[in-house]
Amino acid sequence: MVCPCSEEPISPQTLLWMESGVLYGKYKLANIITEVGREHTLAELIVRGSNPLFGEVPIGGRKNSALAVIPATMLASGTSTLSNLPDISDIATYSRILQSLGATVQKPCNGTMRIDTSKVCPDRSPPLNLVKTIRASYYVLGALLGRWGYARVGLPGGCDIGHRPIDQHLKGFRALGAEVTIEHGEVTVEASRLEGAHIYLDVPSVGATINIVLAAVLARGSTIIENTAREPHIVDVASCLNSMGARVVGAGTGTIKIHGVEELHPTKHAIIPDEIEAATYAIAGAVTDGDVTLLNVVPKHLDAVIAKLREAGIAVEENGDWIRVACRSKPRAVGVKTHPYPGFPTDAMPPMMVLLSLANGTSVVSEGVYENRFNHVDEMQRFGTKIRVEGRTAVIEGVDHIYGTSVQARNLRAGAALLILGLAARGKTTISSIEHVDRGYEHFEEKMREIGADVSRAREEDEDESRENDDIPADGEGIRRVVNLGRS
Ligand code: UD1
Repeated sequence: MVCPCSEEPISPQTLLWMESGVLYGKYKLANIITEVGREHTLAELIVRGSNPLFGEVPIGGRKNSALAVIPATMLASGTSTLSNLPDISDIATYSRILQSLGATVQKPCNGTMRIDTSKVCPDRSPPLNLVKTIRASYYVLGALLGRWGYARVGLPGGCDIGHRPIDQHLKGFRALGAEVTIEHGEVTVEASRLEGAHIYLDVPSVGATINIVLAAVLARGSTIIENTAREPHIVDVASCLNSMGARVVGAGTGTIKIHGVEELHPTKHAIIPDEIEAATYAIAGAVTDGDVTLLNVVPKHLDAVIAKLREAGIAVEENGDWIRVACRSKPRAVGVKTHPYPGFPTDAMPPMMVLLSLANGTSVVSEGVYENRFNHVDEMQRFGTKIRVEGRTAVIEGVDHIYGTSVQARNLRAGAALLILGLAARGKTTISSIEHVDRGYEHFEEKMREIGADVSRAREEDEDESRENDDIPADGEGIRRVVNLGRS
């Protein structure tokens, strides 16, 4: 199938756009749904390991920035144009959420999307099946509350990585003068007029920071939010809002000040690069003894990851908008503790655990953001890794070899980690539930293949065939674990 705007072949991810109601003339919806279903719902990844990865990887737009900027467009009436959007299913889901509210979403082509918000109706509530698919659906609350003083949205979903309350978001809305009720799994926020307030966040939550900013930009008077998250996408969202006429200062520091304005106007905004996608390819290059250059990145955003890679003995060069990562000897064990930015990002922790599983020595990884972010470890152990989890800490004893197996992606970053394990393993790996990975990595297997990975997508009907694993050595530790766990 070919994209009518660009004459380029349409990727499975782009097909999701089409399913989300963006019409491409001659393509029938039924065909599109069939395609999407085949590619996304029923797909598994088949990985054959041990190829070193070499070459350049263009990094796409940042998922978590795009998922906040898209709802931010609803704060103004008219057509905004967003570019450098990643081609991932979470963006397609958000497009459908906006359409369910009355927005028109056009031209999702080559990373550029136009959103006309002039017919958005705040009285509508987005369908729960969409809202529950992604975490960032909570931004609909802030955007609609900010512009119309009313929103009713189901509680958000997202990766199962621990208790993920939204109490700080709601505390912020209440401080601005909104009445908040939660009934039957839906949050309703309502205010006759929002008034600026002084808000202190108990935790530097990314979502709460952005959501309160979205609500406050049109409030009367000034708002100060303290102990805010400092992630670069907070700065990206603030700069998008400022380009719409908002007055947000201090984004990226621990305190944000917002001077409320009467009205915002549509904008054109380019999303910043995705540092977690970049970290994933950097680690994939390193664990396969490869040499990978990441293009279109902001190296500064990756400082914590680069520092840990260097500490582990990986060669990292950076310059302007690229980073080159090469592994010239077995990595060394290091300690990693995840923290809000500028600390080591929790989302890069599962891939980093793969590197440490193959390092010389014993590493300790502590999770400082979520209480239950090690639920990918069971699947990692199927490869023959040696990891012990104690509460929010994982102790990883490096091994020399790991072996392909059959695993399930339980969430987005866990899925990426399993793919990297498959690339470093001897033999064949099958990863099911790959739709989690499609939520956040654009053209994952295509980009991996470009740098030499042996990865393909298979339908679940081929499952029996794909579970065979005749490449595993009979005396490998991996196979003993696999047999113990009753998996073939
Ligand atoms: C966002 C990212 C996610 C990333 C995370 C931390 C999106 C869509 N997702 O998630 O990929 O892993 O930041 O970098 O941008 N918390 C509360 N109360 C709240 C809000 C958060 O206690 O009201 C706690 C959470 O339980 C968690 C911590 O604060 O322990 C950080 O959460 P937060 O920064 O809000 O993460 P998300 O915005 O959900």
